[in-house]
Amino acid sequence: MLPYFFLSKQLPDALIPTIPGPEMPLACLTDFQAFARERLPKSTWDFIEGGADDSFTRDDNIAAFKRIRLRPRYLKNVVNVDTRTTIQGEEITAPICISPTGFHCLVWPDGEMSTARAAQAAGVCYITSTFATCALEDIAATAPRGLRWFQLYVHPDRQLSKQLVQRVESLGFKALVITVDVPKLGNRRHDIRNQLDLKLNLLLKDLHSPKERTSMPYFQMSPIDSSICWNDLSWLQSITRLPIILKGILTKEDAELAMKHNVHGIIVSNHGGRQLDDVLASIDALAEVVAAVKGTMEVYLDGGIRTGNDVLKALALGAKCVFLGRPILWGLAYKGEDGVKELLNIIKNEFHTSMALTGCQSVAEINQDMIQFSRL
Ligand code: FNR
Repeated sequence: MLPYFFLSKQLPDALIPTIPGPEMPLACLTDFQAFARERLPKSTWDFIEGGADDSFTRDDNIAAFKRIRLRPRYLKNVVNVDTRTTIQGEEITAPICISPTGFHCLVWPDGEMSTARAAQAAGVCYITSTFATCALEDIAATAPRGLRWFQLYVHPDRQLSKQLVQRVESLGFKALVITVDVPKLGNRRHDIRNQLDLKLNLLLKDLHSPKERTSMPYFQMSPIDSSICWNDLSWLQSITRLPIILKGILTKEDAELAMKHNVHGIIVSNHGGRQLDDVLASIDALAEVVAAVKGTMEVYLDGGIRTGNDVLKALALGAKCVFLGRPILWGLAYKGEDGVKELLNIIKNEFHTSMALTGCQSVAEINQDMIQFSRL
């Protein structure tokens, strides 16, 4: 007798591939990834997902979390688990915030405005990219109570950068994030093969008003100053009162220099594996940077965070908070503001579960005894 699925020409449930559709609730961040992959044009998908060169570091960012195991403690009364914490003195509902990624209008019509509203609703920080495709004034106005930092690529024309910094300060952004790992753009093979022209996409998607047509896009697509070095930090410090955070530090040597130059924080990051390939996974670089700064500043992490357990592992290794890059774009591609809200809600709930199941009532209790490196 043939199994019933041969007779009915249907596969049993367990064998049917689950590509979630709008009718099926999404249960984890990678469900959003599968959805976005189905929905987005190939060149956009490749632009988002792509890493540099062989994408070794992009993939290792995720694999490295799986080399870390958890050591749960039980019988600790976890009726009340509190995921709240602070970054640069501001309260957030969980140590899970939004990394700067450019071109949100590629995946959802009102792009960064949706992201800003979702971040405000979730009570987390949103780092807006220099390559935002909505005007900064609109982003600030649409989510006036949201905590926002601004990520700066320094322009070769320092006067333009100065104007931009003063503009973001007056718009209520609370910190300046300087991305240090892009003195030159990494080698993104997919974008070369797809002949991706972001300038064209931006022009098609974003230029609503004639005013923006002449001002914003020029800056947004502008070159990045590859001459910038440590001594330029004092110039940045002289043009703003905002705390300065360096994004892209991976070594103790640079962490020590950051400390010497009085920056307020570091985001350990390898740009999601999109810049220099074959560098350490960001979670593998974290402990070295945390040890180097000796508690003088907050250290954050991005790259490969996909689950609540990943968040817990990063905090156990000394991160104050983690940031999500690609997953936010998957959420946007799913349902704009609602998609990002849903995605943040899922990972915040996962983190709550991770804390409860390892015996933590508060974020401050998370420590290195809760993890162990696997030999595999
Ligand atoms: C980025 N990233 C990035 N970083 C930055 O400082 N400025 C930027 O404009 C961008 N733009 C950008 C676009 C896209 C499509 C991606 C995927 C990434 C890097 C980003 O801030 C972050 O470091 C990584 O995305 C984190 O890794 P995960 O979470 O994507 O694994």
